[in-house]
Amino acid sequence: MGKIIAVGNQKGGVGKSTLTYNLAVSLAKRNFKILMVDADSQSSLSQSVGIDPMQMEYNITTLFDSKATEHIADAIYDLGIEGLDINIIPSTPMLASVEMNLFQAQNREYKLKKALGYIKDYYDFILIDSQPSLSLLPINCISCADYLLIPAEVSRLSHFAFQLFNDTVSELTEEINENLKILGVVATMYDSRISEDKVVLEDLKENHTVLGVIPRASAAKKFVRIGSCAVLEAPKTKISLEYQSIADKIITMVEEDK
Ligand SMILES: Nc1ncnc2c1ncn2[C@@H]1O[C@H](COP(=O)(O)OP(=O)(O)O)[C@@H](O)[C@H]1O
Ligand SMILES: [Mg+2]
Repeated sequence: MGKIIAVGNQKGGVGKSTLTYNLAVSLAKRNFKILMVDADSQSSLSQSVGIDPMQMEYNITTLFDSKATEHIADAIYDLGIEGLDINIIPSTPMLASVEMNLFQAQNREYKLKKALGYIKDYYDFILIDSQPSLSLLPINCISCADYLLIPAEVSRLSHFAFQLFNDTVSELTEEINENLKILGVVATMYDSRISEDKVVLEDLKENHTVLGVIPRASAAKKFVRIGSCAVLEAPKTKISLEYQSIADKIITMVEEDK
């Protein structure tokens, strides 16, 4: 049965979409069947796999439309990477207006949960790249997830914002998804030459389960530009090995949880 992992942080630009893509590839390399769900209206995950968000008739908004249930399968696209079983439900800038309409909807916190319920069992892992805010869209991501993975950018880490997110997640968990488990934090954009980064990382490790530390690497942007990711293009580099080690830890945690 498919396990749903929401990748979430209320800040943008922390490496969330990059983490989602690299983890998806790392898990698929271990022969798991993967679905990525781009639930961010900025659509950067969709763009980074080479999809033009404006061209897809069916997409993430289909999952929020109760009348379009029969088209959910049409919103799933194969990445077409040889030997890897990775699908994606792409996003679109239209997702922003869907969120506005959600406010009046019944069961507005559970729309995504209901839609993913139809397809969940076809996958081993569903990774949701959620939007950097704490509004109804990310709440939908949290309400359907079995697990939450929190990327935190070391160099810009605001302890206050992180704490706020943690507190809000605890509150949400109590109210809308008491079964949600926090897998841990992934420290991102780490630069070992910067002493302040070291201090922040130590602080993070003292207070949270840190599953891995992703170094700042200039190649990351290039991989996005060519519609790929580090684990696909350069699997033996330090950054790729770290993504794969995080994926292995997640597999162990999920299997121990069964
Ligand atoms: N390890 C890294 N080192 C340097 N730049 C990175 C790294 N990971 C991601 N980036 C770049 O930082 C920007 C934000 O990353 P992204 O994954 O889109 O963040 P988010 O989804 O949290 O907004 C992108 O331009 C991406 O290419
Ligand atoms: Mg993103």
